[in-house]
Amino acid sequence: MIPPEFLSDIATQQGVSKSELAALKLGLAGYSTADIGEQLGISGDAARKRLSEVYQKFGIAGRGPVKLTKLQQLLVTRYQEALANGRVAFNSAESEQVDWGNAPDVSVFYGRTAELAKLEQWIIQDHYRLLAIYGISGIGKTTLSVKLTQRLQPHFKKVFWRSLYYAPLLQDLLIELTTFLHGSPLDFPVTVVSEQMDWVMDYLQHHRCLLVLNGLESFSRKGDLAGNYQPNYENYSQFIHLLGTVPHQSCVVTTSQEKLSEVAYLEGQTLPVGSFKLRGLELEEAKAILQNKGLTGEDKWKYLVDGYRGNPMMLKLVAETIKEVFGGNVSDFLDTSFFTRDIHNFIERIFDRVSGLERRILYILSDQSDGLAFKQLQNQLTNVNAQDLMSALSSLRQRSLIEHMDQGFILPLVIKEVTQQIMASEA
Ligand SMILES: Nc1ncnc2c1ncn2[C@@H]1O[C@H](COP(=O)(O)OP(=O)(O)O)[C@@H](O)[C@H]1O
Ligand SMILES: [Mg+2]
Repeated sequence: MIPPEFLSDIATQQGVSKSELAALKLGLAGYSTADIGEQLGISGDAARKRLSEVYQKFGIAGRGPVKLTKLQQLLVTRYQEALANGRVAFNSAESEQVDWGNAPDVSVFYGRTAELAKLEQWIIQDHYRLLAIYGISGIGKTTLSVKLTQRLQPHFKKVFWRSLYYAPLLQDLLIELTTFLHGSPLDFPVTVVSEQMDWVMDYLQHHRCLLVLNGLESFSRKGDLAGNYQPNYENYSQFIHLLGTVPHQSCVVTTSQEKLSEVAYLEGQTLPVGSFKLRGLELEEAKAILQNKGLTGEDKWKYLVDGYRGNPMMLKLVAETIKEVFGGNVSDFLDTSFFTRDIHNFIERIFDRVSGLERRILYILSDQSDGLAFKQLQNQLTNVNAQDLMSALSSLRQRSLIEHMDQGFILPLVIKEVTQQIMASEA
């Protein structure tokens, strides 16, 4: 990977203009000319022209895509030479600019073109400073956030990606963050969280950085409505609020299973803050997962994908069993059951997070062949007041456990089937 400073220097030496450099950076990050055009607010043709100017200035001949590869090779060679001759310091290499933490490998990645385009537009063109991606477990939030970060990296001075699954205290996370941004540990007592936050906000105001905080549900209270924090983690709420309200030139992306209440509150105002609900993969992309697992019985694939709402994790789990037990035949599997023990456990873990009332609603809905309207649910839950019922329903929707159709609230097929089994085992 070529550090942005080195790229700018060498491009300037070759007489590449600022606008050509912008196109080049995007080209090197893997964007098509159409995408580059869109990002820069010019036509795809104009983007192609800019790139061909760049190739010419670097003395590269040949056809379309080959030229980019040649240029890439040339840049890497030049960079390695510069490193070897001590003309550039190692500390301008990528590791200083990007801290990936324990980000997973996302080389197997299908679809999500529309989602990436939308998120990039919000971040690059609309300068969103806080963007919260949410969706049910396994839907692909972590994967998408890594892909998004890879693509956006050239636009930012520093990039910090962290999974919060180990539930760090804010103070500890901020030690890592400030050390990375500062380049070395800060020299004031780190026990003062508010000072760390002030330092971070100040840095984000003066430098365009991208921070990705993955898996914020680690901090929310189980058995409660979506969006309430555990003790010792409430200051995350304050941090997120600051990131959304204080003007800065950076962008913070979060992912979580439930919609963040801070963001829900801010996005109604005209701030550059928003949330993005991630849904399942499109049919064709979900089918690619089944294909990849070597499944057969293709005429039943759509039924499987729909019932699982295109959730890639659940599809991978179920595909594994279908392969092992039914030799990959989806029809044979469906004749027996719609889900597996793995899926049951996976969904039970999600259910662990819901409140008592949410659970009662799931039980009622799992028994219905059609949807239930609010009034009908209310009739079945006579001891529950309307406000509590509304909160529970919106919490369930934020968790993607229920859906609202014309005929009322319904459960996705897999949620319904597993709920019925859990109910039966409790009866
Ligand atoms: N677009 C995608 N194409 C292929 N596989 C995907 C895609 N998105 C997610 N996956 C796979 O699905 C599983 C769950 O994805 P992950 O990003 O961990 O979900 P989440 O963070 O929402 O729980 C992972 O195994 C991941 O590799
Ligand atoms: Mg995740």
